[in-house]
Amino acid sequence: MMLNRLFNKDAPERDDGLVQVAKVTELNPHKLKRVVVEGQPILLVLLEKATQNSNLVIVAFSSICPHALGDLSQGYLTKAEIDCPVHYYRFDIRTGACNYPKDGPKLRIYPVIIEGNDVLLKIEKPKWMEQADDEMS
Ligand code: FES
Repeated sequence: MMLNRLFNKDAPERDDGLVQVAKVTELNPHKLKRVVVEGQPILLVLLEKATQNSNLVIVAFSSICPHALGDLSQGYLTKAEIDCPVHYYRFDIRTGACNYPKDGPKLRIYPVIIEGNDVLLKIEKPKWMEQADDEMS
């Protein structure tokens, strides 16, 4: 609940742990939109507009490259892949798989839920952050 209010003061509080991060109408096809939720930079991409035969497809993934922390918001987006601008690792933005090199680290993906014009994300703390919280308490 608190998370949603931190991101967008006007957003209604939710009990399901989802965070409203953008409006569908703010997204342009195949353009990156950067949002920051609880200190986590996240990139949104509208991959497919809704048509008679297909649903709207929006993906969300970390803006931080899992190889060496490159900023993927400066990366090169092609269809459903993004190239990191630092060492040119290439990630599938639907699955997080590293397509080049094949044994590269996986990109963090966030589940996206679309409710009307709202884009909602399920944000969970990374395991290392939960462990750090446990150690500090
Ligand atoms: S930091 Fe992204 S490929 Fe090395």
